[in-house]
Amino acid sequence: MAVTPKTIEDSGILPKGKVYIETYGCQMNFNDSEIIAAVLKHHKYEITDNPEDADVVLLNTCAIRDKAEERVLQRIKELSAYKRRKKPHMLLGVLGCMAERMRDQLFEKEKLVDIVCGPDAYRSLPVLIDEAATGQKAVNVLLSREETYEDIMPVRLHSNGVTAFVSIMRGCNNMCTFCVVPFTRGRERSRNPYSIIKEVDQLIEQGFKEVTLLGQNVDSYRWTDPNTGEVVTFAMLLEMVAKRSPWLRVRFSTSHPKDMTDDVLDVMARYPNICKHIHLPVQSGSTRILKLMRRGYSREWYLNLVSKIREAIPDVALSTDIIAGFCTETEEDHKQTLSLMEEVKFDQAFMFRYSERPNTYAARKLKDDVPHEVKIRRLNEIIDLQRKHSLERNKAEIGKVRRILVEGKARRSENQLFGRTTQNKVVVFPARDDIKPGDYVDVLIENATSATLFASKFRKVQDINEPEAVN
Ligand code: SAH
Ligand code: SF4
Ligand code: F3S
Repeated sequence: MAVTPKTIEDSGILPKGKVYIETYGCQMNFNDSEIIAAVLKHHKYEITDNPEDADVVLLNTCAIRDKAEERVLQRIKELSAYKRRKKPHMLLGVLGCMAERMRDQLFEKEKLVDIVCGPDAYRSLPVLIDEAATGQKAVNVLLSREETYEDIMPVRLHSNGVTAFVSIMRGCNNMCTFCVVPFTRGRERSRNPYSIIKEVDQLIEQGFKEVTLLGQNVDSYRWTDPNTGEVVTFAMLLEMVAKRSPWLRVRFSTSHPKDMTDDVLDVMARYPNICKHIHLPVQSGSTRILKLMRRGYSREWYLNLVSKIREAIPDVALSTDIIAGFCTETEEDHKQTLSLMEEVKFDQAFMFRYSERPNTYAARKLKDDVPHEVKIRRLNEIIDLQRKHSLERNKAEIGKVRRILVEGKARRSENQLFGRTTQNKVVVFPARDDIKPGDYVDVLIENATSATLFASKFRKVQDINEPEAVN
């Protein structure tokens, strides 16, 4: 089809135009935006932080809950109004999980959307933009069984220069009955470990000090060398990454309880630079509900896993995700969730009320029968209890010396810095001229709220192998 150059700079030498990317949803989606930025930069687009400055505005969207989608639809309306009034040539694109879920419905619903592009189709974005510039509605929502964008070095957006995300796999095969992700992200596939190591090495070279390996279910990472048949599991990958440098911290997310293996715990225990924090979404404390969710484990199995983890890594912090008010959830099921929380005492939790997603098993076969007010009340009880546990866990840190990686200035005060402990807890401490983001500092924890730890005594770490101490 004919492609009319959008601007006179369309020669391929000068910048093609400015692109603004706004991201919603999970860490993987944020990392995807960095992949998108890399694809577009390669095609001579410039990335801008200001939507008013942009020729192309891309919303990288999330479909996980109704609220997430409502926010995006609202934003599309705002941008459409801006486009109509001030900038008719501006192109508006919807990317990511909502694009995949709603496809060309988005053009009908939101008349001023020009581009719809799903999570496996980002390499085609430059072509889609060219098509849209000619006035056509441009769409590519093909899902792939192979795409991992492994050869693309993401362009770090809004980076602190210290921590970075590295995607190690895409998609999900689990089909939890409430979840839209398998529909929006397609089949699970693992990225070539050598391309992961290459990216990690480049990050180290650029001065980054922490990587978070990302997947919907990292424990099922499995790569087979097409030539030799060599298999790399998640535990092996974790060790490969940890070995790159003792100064590099390694985190990972998300672990699915049913797939977590002993060898992952073993590698975690052996490498001090693998962070002692596991995000282990439980979703519910009732075995009946877990079964309806098709999570593949029971309450007892989960609690047993938690004991095993704490035995292998005594200093570990655990965080979780919980859904309140899933289909048919009774008061008794809800109490089981609260009692599981009491047993585990998570360090942190992300808590949601159940939101029915079109086409999922739950939407097709189960009844979303917990009244809205009941969902909200149960959610609030869960949130209150978690706040109590977070405070308890954080208070238990008082008096301990912890090593933190400094990330930047504290939000509330210019004269304070913040970093994270290996357990992923934020510590705020006084700024000092010789301490910069990317430094390791040993701090004595003196105070705690449910969200933050505070320290005033600290010492800069010169040798990563020396034991933690403040003087
Ligand atoms: N892959 C991760 C979860 C990704 S989605 C895992 O399996 O643990 C992040 C969280 O969103 C989920 O853990 C779940 O708690 C929540 N979530 C997913 N679908 C939801 C829905 N339909 N309603 C409410 N919360 C949901
Ligand atoms: Fe969704 Fe379950 Fe896959 Fe997590 S494991 S992304 S909750 S289907
Ligand atoms: Fe992430 Fe939301 Fe998609 S949580 S995978 S962006 S539906």
